[in-house]
Amino acid sequence: MKALLLAGGFGTRMRPLTERLPKPMAPVGNRPWLEHLIAGLKQQGIDEIVMAVKHYPERIIEYFGDGGKWGVTIRYTHEPVPLGTAGAIKNAEPLLGGRFVAINADIVHRADIRALVKAHEEAGALVTIGLVEVADPSQFGVVEQAEDGRIVRFVEKPPRGEKPSNRINAGIYIMEPEALRSIPAGREVSIERETFPSLIAAGRRVQGADVSGYWMDMGTSERYRRIHWDLLDGKLELDLAGEERGGGIRIGEGTEVAKGAMLVPPVLVGSRVKIGERAVVGPYAVIGDDCVIGRGARVTHSILWDRCVAAEAAQLNRCIVGSGLKIDPRHLLHEAVVSVIPEAETI
Ligand code: GDD
Ligand code: MG
Repeated sequence: MKALLLAGGFGTRMRPLTERLPKPMAPVGNRPWLEHLIAGLKQQGIDEIVMAVKHYPERIIEYFGDGGKWGVTIRYTHEPVPLGTAGAIKNAEPLLGGRFVAINADIVHRADIRALVKAHEEAGALVTIGLVEVADPSQFGVVEQAEDGRIVRFVEKPPRGEKPSNRINAGIYIMEPEALRSIPAGREVSIERETFPSLIAAGRRVQGADVSGYWMDMGTSERYRRIHWDLLDGKLELDLAGEERGGGIRIGEGTEVAKGAMLVPPVLVGSRVKIGERAVVGPYAVIGDDCVIGRGARVTHSILWDRCVAAEAAQLNRCIVGSGLKIDPRHLLHEAVVSVIPEAETI
C-alpha cells in the first residue's frame, strides 16, 4: 500500500516559523517531523510514498530526494496552483494505483495504519477516516457516526456550540481508488468540505475508525510547544539522536557543557552544541544541533532550532526560535516566536 502525504499547506497559523518552510519540515525533537513520519511508515511496511508539496517544495525535495537514504521511494507531485486537500490527492492519482493511505503531514502521531486498514476491510468501506476525540472540536472536521461506525455527517470546523460530537477527523484516510472518481480535476477541492460530505450524501460507505496512540495537530505554535513537552515527558515516543544521560537529560554527540552550567531536566540538547559557564538550560528546553548558549544565558520552556545563538546572559522563556537566529547578549525574550530569513534567500 502506498502513502500519500499532504504537505503543501501554507502553515499560516505557525508563522513566522513557516514563512519559508513547509510546516511538516518543522523539527520535532531536532529532526523534521516529516522524517519521523516517513520512518514510522517504513516501520509499518509502507515504503512507497507520494508527497503532495506546494509551499517551498524545494525544502522537502532537497532534504529527502528519492527517499533512498530512508529505505523508501518518494515521488513528488507538482501543483501549479494550490489544489486543496482533495485536489492534491486527485492530482496524485496517476502515481497511486490501488488502495492507499492519505495523511495530513502536519499531524504528529503514532497511529497504527494497519489497524485502520483492518477496520476498512471489515466494513467494506470506500473510505475509512481515522478519528480521535478532543475536548474542543471547533478547529477540526467533526463527525457523527452510526452504531456500526459508518459516518453519517462530516462538518468541517463547525461553529462553537454546533458540534455534532467530540470525535474529529484525525487526518488519516484509507481510500479505495474509486473514491477519487468523483473529485473534479484541475481545480481546488477540499476533501473535508466537498468530497466527504458528497460521498456521504450519495450513500457511499465512509467508515470511521479510532486512531490509537499519540495524536496532536501541530497547527499552531501553542500546539507545537505542547508536542515538545509531551516528547520530553515521555508521552510521545520518537527515535531521537543523542544519548540519554538519565534523569531526563539527553545530549547529542560532540556537545560541550562548560563547568558550572546547569541542565535542568527535562531537556533535549542536540549535537555539537556549546553551553557556556553558568548557563541554565531547562526545564523544558529543546536545543537544536550546532547551537551556542552563551555564558550565563538562560533557556527555559523553549525550543531552539538548529544553529541558534543565545549570547551571553540572554534569557529566553517560552520561546520558539527558528534556525540560525542569534539572540544578542542580555536580551530578554518572553513568549516569542521568532525566525530569520536565510541569507541566501534575501536577495
Ligand atoms: N498539496 C497540498 N495542496 N497540500 C495541502 C493543501 C494544498 O492546496 N492545502 C492543505 N494541504 C495539506 C497541509 O499541508 C496539511 O498537511 C493538510 O493538507 C491539512 O491542511 P491544514 O490546513 O493543516 O488543515 P487543518 O489542520 O485546518 O484541518 C485538517 O486537519 C485536521 C486534523 O489535524 C482537516 O483535515 C480537518 O478535518 C482535520 O480535523
Ligand atoms: Mg493542520
